[in-house]
This record gives sequence, C-alpha cells and structure tokens, in this order.
Amino acid sequence: MTLTLTDVTLTYPDGDTRLTALDRVSLDVPAGTLTAVVGPSGSGKSSLLAVAATLVTPDHGRITVAGTETAGLSRADKAALRRDRIGVVFQQPHLLPSLTAVEQLQVMAHLSRRSARAARGRAMDLLDAVGLADGAGRRPHQMSGGQRQRINIARALMNEPAVLLVDEPTSALDHERGAAVLDLLIGLTRERSTATIMVTHDRAHLDRVDRTVSMEDGRLSVPAPA
Ligand SMILES: Nc1ncnc2c1ncn2[C@@H]1O[C@H](COP(=O)(O)OP(=O)(O)OP(=O)(O)O)[C@@H](O)[C@H]1O
Ligand SMILES: [Mg+2]
Repeated sequence: MTLTLTDVTLTYPDGDTRLTALDRVSLDVPAGTLTAVVGPSGSGKSSLLAVAATLVTPDHGRITVAGTETAGLSRADKAALRRDRIGVVFQQPHLLPSLTAVEQLQVMAHLSRRSARAARGRAMDLLDAVGLADGAGRRPHQMSGGQRQRINIARALMNEPAVLLVDEPTSALDHERGAAVLDLLIGLTRERSTATIMVTHDRAHLDRVDRTVSMEDGRLSVPAPA
C-alpha cells in the first residue's frame, strides 16, 4: 500500500471541549488507484487530506507514505517527504501570477534541486498530459478556471509523487469540465501509479473511480471489496 492511514483521530480545540474532525479513520490506498471521498460539509474530508499530507499531526494513529512511517519524522523530514513524495492539489490553484504555465511547474523541480533542463522536459510532458501543451507560455490571468485547475494538477505531479491528494477539483467547474478533470485524474493515477485520494461534493461520474468512501461526523465508511 502506498498510502496507509491506521486508526487516525484528529481533534481541534472547540471552546472548552474538542471537536473530533477524524474519528479512528483507517484507509489503504494502493498505487495506481483513485479513491473518492464524499460526505457533507464539515464531515472531515479536508482534514483527512491534511493529515495524509502530513500538514497536520493527528492526536492518535499512524500514517505511512510510500513505506515511510511519518510519526517519528522531524519537521524538516516531513517537509522533504511532502516535496518529494506527496502531490497536493488544493481547491484554489494558488498559481503565481507572474509565471507562465511551464514555469509554474518548473518551480517545483527547482525546490527539489533537480536539473533545470530535465525539469523543462518533464514540465512540457505534464502540460501535454493535461492537454495544455499549447498554453505553456500563458500566465494565470490568460487561462480559464478549468485550465488553471489542470495546471494545478500538473504541478502537483512534477516531482513524481507516490501520493496525490486532491481537494474538490471540480467544484468550480461545470458538469462537462468536471467530468474531464475527473477523467484526467483517473488517467494520471494509472499512468503515473500514484495512490490518489480525491475529495468531491459531486457524486456524478463516480462510477468510474476505483472506490468511493464516505465521511460522516469524522467517521469513514469504506465499502466491502466487491
Ligand atoms: N483549523 C481548524 N480549527 C478548528 N476546527 C476546524 C479546523 N479545520 C476544520 N475544523 C472543523 O473540523 C470539522 C471538519 O472540517 P473539514 O474542513 O475537514 O470538513 P470538510 O468535510 O472538508 O467540509 P467542506 O465540504 O465544507 O470542505 C468541521 O467541523 C470544521 O469546522
Ligand atoms: Mg473541505
């Protein structure tokens, strides 16, 4: 298993008590598969991604990313693990306004101190994979919302992550574009063998993902294997 969460509990301070955002959540995501997470607002979906991304440390439980148990890691080691093994696609693309599409991707390789020439090749390959090879020189204000979201996805894949975590990639898109982004994520997951978790409100098209799990009040329901 490339991404494993075991018995993960996360609470936040809430007045005099604590709010349980994740309640003993366990989930295995094999490489090359996409798990969709659905559930009502506030049920803990983004919290699940935050702990899987090692951005938030849970109160209890274990998280293993590509064979690395994260609990004992220093902050610096966690940052390196995120940079090298985990791709995160937040709902808002957060692209850098002054950079072109290809430069948005190259920045990631620069952070990993990879060779600039190899980075450009990989960036162009990924822009092609997300259908934007022709737009390599465009800046964010020259792109549509759907194009920016595809750049966001390509950028998350720049350092060949083992784990891809995607929060609501289709919420700002119409039905058709949402379906196209989902197809893209399914294809990239298979081709690049990532263990992918995608949070979504949109239950349309979920018949195409490998598995759909649901969150409710911090609890995760995983269907029995078919
Ligand atoms: N930083 C935080 N501090 C305190 N409480 C938080 C924090 N982040 C989230 N919560 C609470 O934890 C619960 C789960 O939030 P989370 O963001 O994981 O929900 P979600 O399922 O992603 O919701 P949405 O569909 O609206 O994005 C909510 O009750 C929320 O108010
Ligand atoms: Mg959320």
